Amino acid sequence: MDKLLIRGGNRLSGTIPISGAKNAALTLIPCALLTDEPVTLRNLPRLADIDGFQHLMGQFGVAHTIAGHRPEDFGRVMTMEAPRITSTVAPYDLVRKMRASILVLGPMLARMGEATVSLPGGCAIGNRPIDLHLKALEAFGAHIELAQGYVRAIAPDGGLPGGEYDFPVVSVGATENAVMAAVLAKGTSKLINAAREPEIVDLCNLLVAMGAEMEGIGTSELTIHGVKRLHGATYRVMPDRIEAGSYACAAAITGGEVLLEGANFDDMASTIHALRNIGVEVEQVKGGVHVAANGPLKAHNLTTAPFPGLATDMQAQLMSLLCKAEGTSVLKETIFENRFMHVPELARMGANIETSGRTAVVRGPVELTGAEVMATDLRASMSLVIAGLAAEGETTVRRLYHLDRGYERLEEKLQLVGADIERVGDD
Ligand code: UD1
Repeated sequence: MDKLLIRGGNRLSGTIPISGAKNAALTLIPCALLTDEPVTLRNLPRLADIDGFQHLMGQFGVAHTIAGHRPEDFGRVMTMEAPRITSTVAPYDLVRKMRASILVLGPMLARMGEATVSLPGGCAIGNRPIDLHLKALEAFGAHIELAQGYVRAIAPDGGLPGGEYDFPVVSVGATENAVMAAVLAKGTSKLINAAREPEIVDLCNLLVAMGAEMEGIGTSELTIHGVKRLHGATYRVMPDRIEAGSYACAAAITGGEVLLEGANFDDMASTIHALRNIGVEVEQVKGGVHVAANGPLKAHNLTTAPFPGLATDMQAQLMSLLCKAEGTSVLKETIFENRFMHVPELARMGANIETSGRTAVVRGPVELTGAEVMATDLRASMSLVIAGLAAEGETTVRRLYHLDRGYERLEEKLQLVGADIERVGDD
Protein backbone atom coordinates (compact mmCIF):
# COMPACT_ATOMS: atom_id res chain seq x y z
CA MET A 1 0.00 0.00 0.00
CA ASP A 2 1.27 3.50 -0.81
CA LYS A 3 2.41 5.94 1.83
CA LEU A 4 3.29 9.62 1.85
CA LEU A 5 6.72 10.88 2.85
CA ILE A 6 6.81 14.48 3.99
CA ARG A 7 9.96 16.34 4.91
CA GLY A 8 8.68 19.30 6.87
CA GLY A 9 9.88 22.87 7.05
CA ASN A 10 9.30 24.21 3.53
CA ARG A 11 7.30 27.43 3.36
CA LEU A 12 4.40 26.92 0.95
CA SER A 13 4.07 29.57 -1.72
CA GLY A 14 2.19 29.75 -5.02
CA THR A 15 -1.15 28.64 -6.42
CA ILE A 16 -3.18 25.56 -5.54
CA PRO A 17 -6.08 24.69 -7.88
CA ILE A 18 -9.19 23.75 -5.92
CA SER A 19 -11.21 20.79 -7.20
CA GLY A 20 -14.94 20.24 -7.41
CA ALA A 21 -16.51 19.40 -4.05
CA LYS A 22 -16.61 15.71 -3.16
CA ASN A 23 -19.65 16.03 -0.92
CA ALA A 24 -21.55 18.02 -3.54
CA ALA A 25 -20.65 15.52 -6.27
CA LEU A 26 -21.89 12.64 -4.13
CA THR A 27 -25.37 14.13 -3.99
CA LEU A 28 -25.41 15.48 -7.57
CA ILE A 29 -24.58 12.11 -9.16
CA PRO A 30 -27.70 10.28 -7.84
CA CYS A 31 -29.85 13.04 -9.37
CA ALA A 32 -29.27 11.23 -12.68
CA LEU A 33 -31.72 8.61 -11.37
CA LEU A 34 -34.49 11.22 -11.44
CA THR A 35 -34.71 11.58 -15.21
CA ASP A 36 -34.45 9.53 -18.39
CA GLU A 37 -32.51 12.35 -20.04
CA PRO A 38 -28.73 12.91 -19.84
CA VAL A 39 -27.30 14.74 -16.82
CA THR A 40 -23.82 16.16 -17.33
CA LEU A 41 -21.67 17.17 -14.39
CA ARG A 42 -18.59 19.34 -14.99
CA ASN A 43 -15.69 19.89 -12.60
CA LEU A 44 -16.12 16.46 -11.00
CA PRO A 45 -13.15 15.66 -8.78
CA ARG A 46 -11.15 12.52 -9.57
CA LEU A 47 -11.55 10.62 -6.36
CA ALA A 48 -11.99 7.05 -5.23
CA ASP A 49 -15.38 7.92 -3.72
CA ILE A 50 -16.65 9.31 -7.01
CA ASP A 51 -15.50 6.22 -8.91
CA GLY A 52 -17.24 4.08 -6.31
CA PHE A 53 -20.50 5.98 -6.66
CA GLN A 54 -20.33 5.81 -10.42
CA HIS A 55 -19.88 2.05 -10.13
CA LEU A 56 -22.98 1.89 -7.90
CA MET A 57 -24.97 3.87 -10.48
CA GLY A 58 -23.87 1.32 -13.08
CA GLN A 59 -25.59 -1.35 -10.98
CA PHE A 60 -28.90 0.41 -11.59
CA GLY A 61 -28.35 0.52 -15.35
CA VAL A 62 -27.14 4.13 -15.48
CA ALA A 63 -24.70 4.51 -18.38
CA HIS A 64 -21.96 7.11 -18.19
CA THR A 65 -19.29 8.67 -20.38
CA ILE A 66 -16.33 10.64 -19.10
CA ALA A 67 -14.42 13.44 -20.81
CA GLY A 68 -11.52 15.56 -19.62
CA HIS A 69 -9.26 12.58 -19.24
CA ARG A 70 -5.86 14.13 -19.92
CA PRO A 71 -3.57 13.24 -17.02
CA GLU A 72 -2.68 16.91 -16.46
CA ASP A 73 -6.34 17.92 -16.03
CA PHE A 74 -7.90 18.35 -12.65
CA GLY A 75 -11.58 17.55 -12.73
CA ARG A 76 -13.54 15.90 -15.47
CA VAL A 77 -16.90 15.92 -17.18
CA MET A 78 -19.29 13.01 -16.75
CA THR A 79 -22.55 12.46 -18.59
CA MET A 80 -24.96 9.96 -17.07
CA GLU A 81 -28.05 8.63 -18.71
CA ALA A 82 -30.74 6.44 -17.17
CA PRO A 83 -33.45 5.82 -19.78
CA ARG A 84 -34.29 2.58 -17.99
CA ILE A 85 -33.49 1.57 -14.41
CA THR A 86 -32.59 -2.12 -14.41
CA SER A 87 -32.26 -2.67 -10.64
CA THR A 88 -33.51 -0.82 -7.57
CA VAL A 89 -31.14 -2.56 -5.15
CA ALA A 90 -27.93 -1.07 -3.72
CA PRO A 91 -26.06 -4.15 -2.47
CA TYR A 92 -24.08 -4.46 0.77
CA ASP A 93 -20.74 -4.89 -0.95
CA LEU A 94 -20.90 -1.45 -2.56
CA VAL A 95 -22.68 0.40 0.26
CA ARG A 96 -20.29 -0.81 2.97
CA LYS A 97 -17.35 0.74 1.12
CA MET A 98 -19.09 4.08 0.77
CA ARG A 99 -21.61 5.44 3.22
CA ALA A 100 -22.85 8.07 0.78
CA SER A 101 -24.52 5.23 -1.18
CA ILE A 102 -27.53 5.81 1.08
CA LEU A 103 -28.16 8.91 -1.06
CA VAL A 104 -29.68 6.74 -3.80
CA LEU A 105 -32.62 5.89 -1.55
CA GLY A 106 -34.59 9.13 -2.11
CA PRO A 107 -34.17 9.52 -5.87
CA MET A 108 -34.66 5.79 -6.58
CA LEU A 109 -37.87 5.80 -4.55
CA ALA A 110 -39.06 8.91 -6.39
CA ARG A 111 -38.38 7.48 -9.83
CA MET A 112 -39.28 3.80 -9.34
CA GLY A 113 -41.70 3.83 -6.41
CA GLU A 114 -39.36 1.53 -4.51
CA ALA A 115 -35.74 1.29 -3.43
CA THR A 116 -33.73 -1.26 -1.46
CA VAL A 117 -30.43 -0.14 0.04
CA SER A 118 -28.10 -2.01 2.35
CA LEU A 119 -27.79 -0.36 5.77
CA PRO A 120 -24.42 1.39 5.78
CA GLY A 121 -23.35 0.26 9.27
CA GLY A 122 -20.94 2.07 11.57
CA CYS A 123 -17.99 4.11 10.48
CA ALA A 124 -14.81 5.46 11.97
CA ILE A 125 -16.20 8.80 13.14
CA GLY A 126 -19.25 7.52 14.96
CA ASN A 127 -22.41 5.48 14.68
CA ARG A 128 -23.95 7.59 11.95
CA PRO A 129 -27.52 6.29 11.98
CA ILE A 130 -29.92 6.86 9.06
CA ASP A 131 -33.12 7.14 11.10
CA LEU A 132 -33.73 10.72 9.97
CA HIS A 133 -33.45 9.75 6.30
CA LEU A 134 -36.14 7.14 6.87
CA LYS A 135 -38.42 9.35 8.98
CA ALA A 136 -38.38 12.10 6.37
CA LEU A 137 -39.30 9.61 3.62
CA GLU A 138 -42.05 8.18 5.82
CA ALA A 139 -43.40 11.68 6.36
CA PHE A 140 -43.62 11.98 2.57
CA GLY A 141 -45.77 8.82 2.46
CA ALA A 142 -43.19 6.04 1.98
CA HIS A 143 -43.58 2.69 3.69
CA ILE A 144 -40.25 1.58 5.20
CA GLU A 145 -39.22 -2.00 5.97
CA LEU A 146 -35.97 -3.17 7.54
CA ALA A 147 -34.90 -6.76 6.95
CA GLN A 148 -31.68 -8.75 6.56
CA GLY A 149 -29.54 -5.63 6.85
CA TYR A 150 -31.40 -3.82 4.11
CA VAL A 151 -33.85 -0.94 4.12
CA ARG A 152 -36.68 -1.10 1.64
CA ALA A 153 -38.72 1.99 0.90
CA ILE A 154 -41.97 1.69 -1.04
CA ALA A 155 -44.21 4.47 -2.33
CA PRO A 156 -48.00 4.07 -2.56
CA ASP A 157 -49.37 3.33 -6.04
CA GLY A 158 -49.05 6.41 -8.16
CA GLY A 159 -46.07 7.78 -6.26
CA LEU A 160 -45.18 9.58 -3.05
CA PRO A 161 -47.87 12.01 -1.93
CA GLY A 162 -45.34 14.38 -0.26
CA GLY A 163 -45.62 15.78 3.26
CA GLU A 164 -43.91 17.73 6.00
CA TYR A 165 -40.92 16.82 8.16
CA ASP A 166 -39.30 18.78 10.97
CA PHE A 167 -35.76 17.48 11.56
CA PRO A 168 -34.99 17.07 15.28
CA VAL A 169 -31.26 17.19 14.39
CA VAL A 170 -29.78 18.94 11.36
CA SER A 171 -28.62 16.28 8.92
CA VAL A 172 -26.94 16.96 5.60
CA GLY A 173 -27.54 13.50 4.13
CA ALA A 174 -31.12 13.18 5.34
CA THR A 175 -31.96 16.60 3.91
CA GLU A 176 -30.43 15.58 0.58
CA ASN A 177 -32.35 12.30 0.44
CA ALA A 178 -35.60 14.04 1.36
CA VAL A 179 -35.16 16.76 -1.27
CA MET A 180 -34.40 14.21 -4.00
CA ALA A 181 -37.47 12.19 -2.99
CA ALA A 182 -39.80 15.19 -2.89
CA VAL A 183 -39.06 16.66 -6.32
CA LEU A 184 -41.19 14.04 -8.13
CA ALA A 185 -43.88 13.70 -5.42
CA LYS A 186 -47.53 14.27 -6.31
CA GLY A 187 -47.97 17.12 -3.85
CA THR A 188 -45.99 19.76 -2.01
CA SER A 189 -43.45 18.84 0.67
CA LYS A 190 -41.93 20.95 3.39
CA LEU A 191 -38.67 20.42 5.29
CA ILE A 192 -38.19 22.31 8.54
CA ASN A 193 -34.80 22.60 10.27
CA ALA A 194 -33.26 21.33 7.04
CA ALA A 195 -29.49 21.45 6.59
CA ARG A 196 -28.37 24.42 4.48
CA GLU A 197 -24.79 23.54 3.69
CA PRO A 198 -23.53 24.96 0.38
CA GLU A 199 -23.54 21.39 -0.99
CA ILE A 200 -27.32 21.32 -0.44
CA VAL A 201 -27.67 24.60 -2.29
CA ASP A 202 -25.69 22.99 -5.11
CA LEU A 203 -28.08 20.02 -5.09
CA CYS A 204 -31.15 22.29 -5.19
CA ASN A 205 -29.64 24.35 -8.00
CA LEU A 206 -29.09 21.25 -10.13
CA LEU A 207 -32.62 20.04 -9.43
CA VAL A 208 -34.07 23.42 -10.41
CA ALA A 209 -31.98 23.26 -13.61
CA MET A 210 -33.67 19.88 -14.21
CA GLY A 211 -37.12 21.42 -13.82
CA ALA A 212 -37.78 21.01 -10.07
CA GLU A 213 -39.84 23.62 -8.28
CA MET A 214 -38.80 24.73 -4.81
CA GLU A 215 -38.60 27.67 -2.47
CA GLY A 216 -36.28 28.49 0.40
CA ILE A 217 -33.01 27.33 -1.20
CA GLY A 218 -30.15 28.17 1.17
CA THR A 219 -32.46 28.42 4.20
CA SER A 220 -33.48 25.87 6.81
CA GLU A 221 -37.04 25.73 5.50
CA LEU A 222 -37.46 24.17 2.08
CA THR A 223 -40.75 23.91 0.22
CA ILE A 224 -40.74 21.53 -2.73
CA HIS A 225 -43.62 21.37 -5.20
CA GLY A 226 -43.49 17.96 -6.85
CA VAL A 227 -43.45 17.91 -10.65
CA LYS A 228 -44.44 15.10 -13.02
CA ARG A 229 -41.06 14.75 -14.66
CA LEU A 230 -37.59 16.20 -14.64
CA HIS A 231 -35.40 16.75 -17.68
CA GLY A 232 -31.66 16.57 -18.26
CA ALA A 233 -29.22 19.36 -17.42
CA THR A 234 -25.56 20.33 -17.51
CA TYR A 235 -24.16 21.55 -14.23
CA ARG A 236 -20.79 22.57 -12.78
CA VAL A 237 -19.95 21.10 -9.35
CA MET A 238 -19.17 23.79 -6.76
CA PRO A 239 -15.56 24.21 -5.54
CA ASP A 240 -14.59 22.07 -2.54
CA ARG A 241 -14.70 24.36 0.49
CA ILE A 242 -13.18 21.70 2.75
CA GLU A 243 -10.29 20.99 0.39
CA ALA A 244 -9.68 24.75 0.14
CA GLY A 245 -9.83 25.15 3.92
CA SER A 246 -7.42 22.24 4.34
CA TYR A 247 -4.84 23.85 2.05
CA ALA A 248 -5.33 27.17 3.84
CA CYS A 249 -4.29 25.40 7.07
CA ALA A 250 -1.38 23.75 5.26
CA ALA A 251 -0.09 27.10 3.98
CA ALA A 252 -0.64 28.81 7.33
CA ILE A 253 1.22 26.22 9.40
CA THR A 254 4.31 26.76 7.22
CA GLY A 255 4.11 30.58 7.45
CA GLY A 256 3.31 30.49 3.75
CA GLU A 257 1.24 32.38 1.24
CA VAL A 258 -0.99 30.74 -1.36
CA LEU A 259 -3.77 31.47 -3.80
CA LEU A 260 -6.56 28.89 -3.51
CA GLU A 261 -7.53 29.05 -7.15
CA GLY A 262 -11.25 28.75 -7.81
CA ALA A 263 -12.20 28.62 -4.11
CA ASN A 264 -15.44 30.29 -3.09
CA PHE A 265 -14.89 32.82 -0.29
CA ASP A 266 -18.52 32.93 0.89
CA ASP A 267 -18.84 29.15 1.25
CA MET A 268 -15.72 29.18 3.44
CA ALA A 269 -16.90 31.96 5.77
CA SER A 270 -16.72 30.02 9.06
CA THR A 271 -13.26 28.60 8.28
CA ILE A 272 -12.04 32.04 7.21
CA HIS A 273 -13.40 33.56 10.42
CA ALA A 274 -11.45 30.95 12.42
CA LEU A 275 -8.25 31.46 10.40
CA ARG A 276 -8.40 35.23 10.81
CA ASN A 277 -8.85 34.87 14.58
CA ILE A 278 -5.80 32.61 14.62
CA GLY A 279 -3.85 35.41 12.92
CA VAL A 280 -3.90 34.25 9.30
CA GLU A 281 -4.68 36.82 6.61
CA VAL A 282 -7.40 35.64 4.25
CA GLU A 283 -8.74 37.76 1.42
CA GLN A 284 -11.10 37.29 -1.47
CA VAL A 285 -9.21 38.02 -4.67
CA LYS A 286 -9.89 37.66 -8.37
CA GLY A 287 -9.73 33.96 -9.15
CA GLY A 288 -10.07 32.66 -5.61
CA VAL A 289 -9.00 33.13 -2.02
CA HIS A 290 -5.60 34.39 -0.91
CA VAL A 291 -4.10 33.11 2.34
CA ALA A 292 -0.98 34.51 4.03
CA ALA A 293 0.50 33.73 7.42
CA ASN A 294 3.05 36.43 8.05
CA GLY A 295 2.72 36.99 11.79
CA PRO A 296 2.53 34.79 14.88
CA LEU A 297 -0.38 32.36 15.23
CA LYS A 298 -2.70 32.88 18.21
CA ALA A 299 -4.80 30.38 20.15
CA HIS A 300 -8.51 30.43 19.39
CA ASN A 301 -11.51 28.46 20.69
CA LEU A 302 -13.61 26.60 18.13
CA THR A 303 -16.94 24.77 18.19
CA THR A 304 -18.21 22.78 15.21
CA ALA A 305 -21.84 23.27 14.18
CA PRO A 306 -24.11 22.81 11.17
CA PHE A 307 -23.68 25.44 8.44
CA PRO A 308 -23.24 28.41 8.75
CA GLY A 309 -21.24 27.25 11.80
CA LEU A 310 -17.76 25.77 11.62
CA ALA A 311 -17.74 22.54 9.58
CA THR A 312 -16.87 19.39 11.51
CA ASP A 313 -14.89 18.44 8.39
CA MET A 314 -12.43 21.30 9.22
CA GLN A 315 -11.91 20.47 12.89
CA ALA A 316 -8.91 18.15 12.57
CA GLN A 317 -6.99 20.39 10.17
CA LEU A 318 -7.52 23.49 12.33
CA MET A 319 -6.38 21.49 15.37
CA SER A 320 -3.03 20.80 13.69
CA LEU A 321 -2.66 24.50 12.95
CA LEU A 322 -3.48 25.42 16.56
CA CYS A 323 -0.59 23.22 17.76
CA LYS A 324 1.67 25.98 16.40
CA ALA A 325 -0.38 28.83 17.91
CA GLU A 326 0.59 30.72 21.05
CA GLY A 327 -1.72 29.91 23.98
CA THR A 328 -4.48 27.47 24.85
CA SER A 329 -7.30 26.63 22.41
CA VAL A 330 -10.44 24.71 23.30
CA LEU A 331 -12.09 22.77 20.46
CA LYS A 332 -15.58 21.38 20.84
CA GLU A 333 -16.94 18.78 18.42
CA THR A 334 -20.73 18.84 18.45
CA ILE A 335 -21.56 16.85 15.28
CA PHE A 336 -19.89 13.44 15.59
CA GLU A 337 -19.12 11.57 18.79
CA ASN A 338 -15.79 10.04 17.83
CA ARG A 339 -13.90 12.59 15.86
CA PHE A 340 -10.64 13.11 17.76
CA MET A 341 -8.81 10.07 16.43
CA HIS A 342 -6.05 12.26 15.05
CA VAL A 343 -5.17 13.41 18.58
CA PRO A 344 -3.01 10.43 19.64
CA GLU A 345 -1.21 10.56 16.31
CA LEU A 346 -0.60 14.31 16.61
CA ALA A 347 0.67 13.65 20.14
CA ARG A 348 3.24 11.26 18.67
CA MET A 349 4.46 14.21 16.63
CA GLY A 350 4.86 16.34 19.75
CA ALA A 351 1.44 17.98 20.07
CA ASN A 352 0.16 18.88 23.52
CA ILE A 353 -3.55 18.00 23.37
CA GLU A 354 -5.86 16.72 26.08
CA THR A 355 -9.30 15.39 25.28
CA SER A 356 -12.32 14.87 27.46
CA GLY A 357 -15.47 13.63 25.73
CA ARG A 358 -16.15 15.96 22.85
CA THR A 359 -13.68 18.64 23.98
CA ALA A 360 -10.00 18.94 23.10
CA VAL A 361 -7.60 21.40 24.72
CA VAL A 362 -4.61 22.30 22.56
CA ARG A 363 -1.61 24.01 24.15
CA GLY A 364 0.89 25.70 21.89
CA PRO A 365 3.12 26.48 20.34
CA VAL A 366 5.01 23.18 20.26
CA GLU A 367 7.86 21.98 18.07
CA LEU A 368 6.38 19.22 15.93
CA THR A 369 8.67 16.37 14.95
CA GLY A 370 8.26 13.89 12.11
CA ALA A 371 6.92 10.43 12.91
CA GLU A 372 5.26 7.42 11.31
CA VAL A 373 1.54 8.06 11.59
CA MET A 374 -1.76 6.88 10.21
CA ALA A 375 -5.36 7.87 10.65
CA THR A 376 -8.70 6.20 10.44
CA ASP A 377 -10.62 8.80 8.48
CA LEU A 378 -10.25 11.33 5.72
CA ARG A 379 -9.95 14.65 7.55
CA ALA A 380 -7.88 13.13 10.36
CA SER A 381 -5.42 11.93 7.71
CA MET A 382 -5.23 15.45 6.29
CA SER A 383 -4.50 16.88 9.72
CA LEU A 384 -1.44 14.61 9.91
CA VAL A 385 -0.24 15.81 6.50
CA ILE A 386 -0.62 19.41 7.70
CA ALA A 387 1.34 18.69 10.88
CA GLY A 388 3.99 16.89 8.82
CA LEU A 389 4.51 19.97 6.63
CA ALA A 390 5.57 21.94 9.72
CA ALA A 391 7.41 19.14 11.52
CA GLU A 392 11.13 18.82 11.94
CA GLY A 393 12.34 15.80 9.94
CA GLU A 394 10.38 13.18 8.06
CA THR A 395 6.75 12.19 8.53
CA THR A 396 5.32 9.04 6.98
CA VAL A 397 1.54 8.95 6.57
CA ARG A 398 0.06 5.51 5.95
CA ARG A 399 -3.42 4.34 4.95
CA LEU A 400 -3.56 6.69 2.00
CA TYR A 401 -6.85 5.30 0.81
CA HIS A 402 -8.56 7.71 3.19
CA LEU A 403 -6.85 10.70 1.57
CA ASP A 404 -7.53 9.33 -1.91
CA ARG A 405 -11.23 9.27 -1.08
CA GLY A 406 -11.34 13.02 -0.67
CA TYR A 407 -8.26 14.91 -1.92
CA GLU A 408 -7.62 14.96 -5.64
CA ARG A 409 -3.90 14.42 -6.25
CA LEU A 410 -2.92 15.77 -2.88
CA GLU A 411 0.84 15.38 -3.21
CA GLU A 412 0.90 17.00 -6.67
CA LYS A 413 -0.98 20.03 -5.42
CA LEU A 414 1.32 20.41 -2.42
CA GLN A 415 4.41 19.95 -4.61
CA LEU A 416 3.15 22.83 -6.78
CA VAL A 417 3.60 25.19 -3.83
CA GLY A 418 6.97 23.86 -2.72
CA ALA A 419 6.19 21.09 -0.24
CA ASP A 420 8.68 18.25 0.02
CA ILE A 421 6.18 15.42 -0.25
CA GLU A 422 6.11 12.21 -2.26
CA ARG A 423 4.01 9.09 -2.58
CA VAL A 424 5.99 5.89 -2.41
CA GLY A 425 5.02 2.23 -2.52
CA ASP A 426 5.16 0.40 0.77
CA ASP A 427 8.12 -1.88 1.29
C1 UD1 B 1 -22.19 14.82 5.65
C2 UD1 B 1 -20.85 14.86 4.97
C3 UD1 B 1 -19.73 14.75 5.97
C4 UD1 B 1 -19.90 15.81 7.06
C5 UD1 B 1 -21.30 15.77 7.65
C6 UD1 B 1 -21.57 16.91 8.62
C7 UD1 B 1 -21.27 13.89 2.79
C8 UD1 B 1 -21.06 12.74 1.88
N1 UD1 B 1 -20.77 13.77 4.01
O1 UD1 B 1 -22.30 13.55 6.27
O2 UD1 B 1 -18.49 14.93 5.31
O3 UD1 B 1 -18.94 15.59 8.08
O4 UD1 B 1 -22.28 15.86 6.61
O5 UD1 B 1 -21.38 18.13 8.00
O6 UD1 B 1 -21.82 14.90 2.41
N2 UD1 B 1 -27.74 11.77 12.23
C9 UD1 B 1 -28.71 11.03 12.86
N3 UD1 B 1 -29.61 10.34 12.09
C10 UD1 B 1 -29.57 10.38 10.72
C11 UD1 B 1 -28.59 11.16 10.08
C12 UD1 B 1 -27.68 11.84 10.87
O7 UD1 B 1 -28.76 10.98 14.08
O8 UD1 B 1 -30.42 9.76 10.09
C13 UD1 B 1 -26.75 12.53 13.04
C14 UD1 B 1 -25.32 12.03 12.78
O9 UD1 B 1 -25.01 10.92 13.58
C15 UD1 B 1 -24.53 13.25 13.17
C16 UD1 B 1 -25.43 14.41 12.72
O10 UD1 B 1 -26.73 13.85 12.60
O11 UD1 B 1 -24.35 13.32 14.56
C17 UD1 B 1 -25.05 15.05 11.41
O12 UD1 B 1 -24.84 14.06 10.43
P1 UD1 B 1 -25.16 14.34 8.88
O13 UD1 B 1 -25.28 15.80 8.67
O14 UD1 B 1 -26.29 13.48 8.48
O15 UD1 B 1 -23.85 13.81 8.18
P2 UD1 B 1 -23.72 13.05 6.80
O16 UD1 B 1 -24.77 13.50 5.85
O17 UD1 B 1 -23.56 11.59 7.05
